Amino acid sequence: MKKYLVTGAAGFIGANFVKYILKKWENDVEIVILDALTYAGNPLTIKYEMELPNVTFVKGDIGDRELVSELIAKYDPDYIVNFAAESHVDRSITNPRLFLETNILGTQNMLDCARNAWYLGKDANGNHQYKEGKRYLQISTDEVYGSLSKDFDTAQPLQVTEEVSKVIEGRTNLKTFGEKFFTETTPLAPRSPYSAAKTGADLITLAYHETYGMPINITRCSNNYGPYHFPEKLIPLIIKNILEGKALPVYGKGENVRDWLYVEDHAKAIDMVLRDGRIGEIYNVGGFNEEQNINIVTTVIEIIARIMREEPKYQELLKCNLEDINNNLITYVADRPGHDMRYAIDPTKIAVELGWYPETPFSIGIEKTIRWYLDNQEWVESVTSGEYQNYYNEMYNNRK
Ligand SMILES: NC(=O)c1ccc[n+]([C@@H]2O[C@H](COP(=O)([O-])OP(=O)(O)OC[C@H]3O[C@@H](n4cnc5c(N)ncnc54)[C@H](O)[C@@H]3O)[C@@H](O)[C@H]2O)c1
Repeated sequence: MKKYLVTGAAGFIGANFVKYILKKWENDVEIVILDALTYAGNPLTIKYEMELPNVTFVKGDIGDRELVSELIAKYDPDYIVNFAAESHVDRSITNPRLFLETNILGTQNMLDCARNAWYLGKDANGNHQYKEGKRYLQISTDEVYGSLSKDFDTAQPLQVTEEVSKVIEGRTNLKTFGEKFFTETTPLAPRSPYSAAKTGADLITLAYHETYGMPINITRCSNNYGPYHFPEKLIPLIIKNILEGKALPVYGKGENVRDWLYVEDHAKAIDMVLRDGRIGEIYNVGGFNEEQNINIVTTVIEIIARIMREEPKYQELLKCNLEDINNNLITYVADRPGHDMRYAIDPTKIAVELGWYPETPFSIGIEKTIRWYLDNQEWVESVTSGEYQNYYNEMYNNRK
């Protein structure tokens, strides 16, 4: 039985991670969730999980020293997984300070509380000793590496090494827009307040390992997509706007390239690193799915239009005419300042060391995601109306 303290699990990836480990390990895990329920945290996302006897939800801030120390003392987690963060780049441009507070100082607080609870002192050789089996995992992003150049206008075949090709058997026809990739040793070069704050968090995590010998790992992941994604991010926003017949805003010319990873594949990678990753190591997690933003948008338009034609029951979700679902909805808007051109992860290390690979090709993952949104409009509605923000209070008050 492993015990997890998961922060930020009312958000997109954290919630998907909790669902994944409950599915994989069933009752063989105990989970404590710590989430401040900012605008991005939606308790409705984990409503079912919060009712389970092996899941405890605590509303609170990762920067709250007393609370975090108390939780670690009370629940004695084997693993601490820190997802909690301010995560939206556009918001970091308007309010950078909040990003530094949550992402850097919050992370340092989590590390420090874990160190105090887990540290046993030095052995005869002067090596730091920690309680057996404890591990702190910092969830990071490929954005800490900055931006890569886009060397090709159209995608070119991607060649992988023989050892990687053995692991990723099920994935073929890989492609790329460039010659260079982010590896774990790529120099850190963040370019937005969001990525600078995430870089700060990574560096303080590494410093706790170097200075105090803390058992840590860092995972750096590419863009995630999938169910429960807040509709301010590209894919859920596009789905929502298409159903409403609204314009689809695309930055610049839509040429920026991102490496898209289905969120469940990310959850799997995190759990593998916690259980089998080498202490102190960083693991890059990528999707082998480089795609230009404009192609993401046109693909989503095409799939929604097809589903609507083939399964007319979904047409009741439309607030526009089916014929209006086409590329004329796309509107190009002024580019984001400092917009990174291309991200592309080289996941060789995690593939070769842990046998992980991104199992879900984009064509499958995007259709699953779109169908999830079509079937869960209630969730989208609760997020859009802000109603989800009342849910926790209602639930809490009803229980008193
Ligand atoms: N979304 C992506 O594509 C992506 C890619 C790579 C890495 N990441 C990283 O993964 C993590 C999760 O991302 P996400 O997209 O799920 O984010 P999200 O914005 O959906 O969720 C963040 C969660 O953290 C909570 N939170 C915020 N501040 C908090 C605080 N001070 N104390 C406690 N909880 C707090 C929010 O309430 C929310 O539930 C982040 O660290 C992000 O940097 C995200």
